[in-house]
Amino acid sequence: MATPQKILLGITGGIAAYKTPELIRLLVKKGIAVQVVMTRTAEQFVTPVTLRSVSGERVLTADWNNQEDPFDHLNRTRGLAAALIAPATANFLGKLAHGVADDLLLTSVLALECPLFVAPSMNPRMYANPAVQDNIRILEGRGVHIIRPDEGEMACGDSGAGRLPSIGHLATVIEEAVGPTADLKGKRIIVTAGPTEEPIDAVRFISNRSSGRMGVAIAEAARDRGADVTLIHGPLSIPLPENITNISVRRAQEMMDELAARFGGCDMLVMAAAVSDFRPSVVYDSKMKKNEAGLSISLEQNPDILERLGKHKENRLIIGFAAETDNLLQNAREKLLRKNMDVICANDVGRGDIGFDNDYNEITLISRTREPLSLPRLPKRQLADRILDEAARLLSSPRAAASGQG
Ligand code: CTP
Repeated sequence: MATPQKILLGITGGIAAYKTPELIRLLVKKGIAVQVVMTRTAEQFVTPVTLRSVSGERVLTADWNNQEDPFDHLNRTRGLAAALIAPATANFLGKLAHGVADDLLLTSVLALECPLFVAPSMNPRMYANPAVQDNIRILEGRGVHIIRPDEGEMACGDSGAGRLPSIGHLATVIEEAVGPTADLKGKRIIVTAGPTEEPIDAVRFISNRSSGRMGVAIAEAARDRGADVTLIHGPLSIPLPENITNISVRRAQEMMDELAARFGGCDMLVMAAAVSDFRPSVVYDSKMKKNEAGLSISLEQNPDILERLGKHKENRLIIGFAAETDNLLQNAREKLLRKNMDVICANDVGRGDIGFDNDYNEITLISRTREPLSLPRLPKRQLADRILDEAARLLSSPRAAASGQG
């Protein structure tokens, strides 16, 4: 099973610390979770609250009184794919080069077992100082990867080598170090996303608040893990993913038709679309006049797409969602069985801080073979990877092929 890739980002007190929220946002977007550890001086340039908001993780600061776990420097540094210190001040380089461990970041770095990247950033005259250069050489000699600073004009007005390299460059270095997870290579995966729209007349329709972000995040995560992905989506106002076959539909019936044509050729379906359950019985070609239609619209039921496809599941893996406001787990489990899914992502859509039209979500994964797994509130891309971890586990186990009807 692929473990979600996680890095430690150490932030020390250089002015370029103000760029780190953007770096975290980029890494999270690439599916890399970020554990921030910051020094006391770094807090002068960027706040822990901002860093927590963008990383979705508890931020470790120098304040011992706020530390939930006295062994954070050990427990939070296990199982990391890489660590990056950016910006790294002259003070930090000096202490690390000499094994000083007088704050949480330094103790954490000494406990690391993963590759360490350090991006020095400081005034060019300080950077050129032989003491700083000696410390860099010591660190390089111990296998630390130094990311050289850029040349240019500094905040203080001086020019020379000392600027933190671009956020894009740092993110690429880390992405390459962490390496792609290719556990879905060769798998043909269909993902549905977004709402469907059921027209009433030429200009009006029935729909829902789904933004499609969860489905798009799953499609992107599956693509990045090597899968051949087809995204069938309702009307979306977010950018469509690249290097994916994107098929745009409007009504539930169109989504059903596209899926019926493709389901036979896939290994897995992730049904994240918020399909409208009802459609108007009569659709007017032109715009209805106020006095023409009266005040009621008669509705009829749309096909339940998953329920129909579930009847032809064979050894394909089916992952669905349950959008609930009440009795979350019980209703979700009932849907899992009724629609013949392997895994259902139970989603409390009654909460305003997660779910529909939000960058974050919090779900419980319910599968046939395991106890429910409650995942914390996370950015949708990170959740997508957690869902795909479970999918990859099931796809590689003989149980997936055997589950069949039931
Ligand atoms: N779904 C579907 N076709 C429908 C409705 C829903 O394929 N007509 C899929 C959704 O994409 C989701 C799962 O079924 O993966 C459960 O959707 P949800 O809206 O939670 O449940 P419903 O079956 O519509 O039941 P209810 O609205 O009564 O809760």
